[in-house]
Amino acid sequence: MRMILFGPPGAGKGTQAARLLERHPEIAHLSTGDMLRAAVAEGTALGKQADAFMKAGDLVPDELVVGLVMERLQKPDCQDGFMLDGFPRTVPQAAALDKALDAAGIALDHVVVIEVPDELIVDRITGRRMDPETGAIYHMKFDPPPAEVLDRVIQRKDDTAEAVTSRLAKYHSETTPVLPLYQDKGIVRLIDGVGPPHEVALRIETAL
Ligand code: AP5
Repeated sequence: MRMILFGPPGAGKGTQAARLLERHPEIAHLSTGDMLRAAVAEGTALGKQADAFMKAGDLVPDELVVGLVMERLQKPDCQDGFMLDGFPRTVPQAAALDKALDAAGIALDHVVVIEVPDELIVDRITGRRMDPETGAIYHMKFDPPPAEVLDRVIQRKDDTAEAVTSRLAKYHSETTPVLPLYQDKGIVRLIDGVGPPHEVALRIETAL
């Protein structure tokens, strides 16, 4: 299976990616947000360039992200399928992906769009915490971390109310124009992202 997980910041892409991987362990998970955060943490040249854009809630320039994804898609673990999470996020990124997949004779099966209204997003993002040891995602209200990990959970630097506003604006101006390209191919699956995560997961599985 080759798919894209699409949706606004805080829609639940990472949460649902973890559940999808439990059911489809054969596919690779490529989260550009995770890849960029790893590059920032390692202090690579790419990470140094990406850091300021991410903190401000801006998109990292296409040429940096496209190179990162194209290199990753060549790895052996992507050959039996992949789930792109947070990519493509602009029309040029989608065009670069299309070109690479066409050249490799590969077609996408699904673009899963998790729909959540803007007014719920700020709450979801500002309450998010992550366990740096396991990568598990929690929410202080909707999915509180268990007592044994509470002391070590961290908050992402771009999970401030100011950065969320900018990330949402970018989503509407730069990312949603990508969707018509996939609607023309008949592979877009619109999923209601409101409700408990297990219900959203069931909706996704049914759509797939
Ligand atoms: P990225 O890491 O991709 O962030 P994002 O798209 O903004 O998405 P998030 O990770 O914030 O949210 P999510 O949808 O995964 O939600 P989650 O499951 O965590 O990108 C970060 C930055 O990197 C970008 O701003 C940009 O700078 C850069 N970048 C990345 N890709 C790029 C690209 N392609 N081009 C250019 N720049 C790029 O859930 C959120 C919270 O809600 C959690 O606390 C969770 O517990 C809770 N939650 C989840 N589901 C539910 C539910 N059903 N009900 C209640 N709460 C829920």
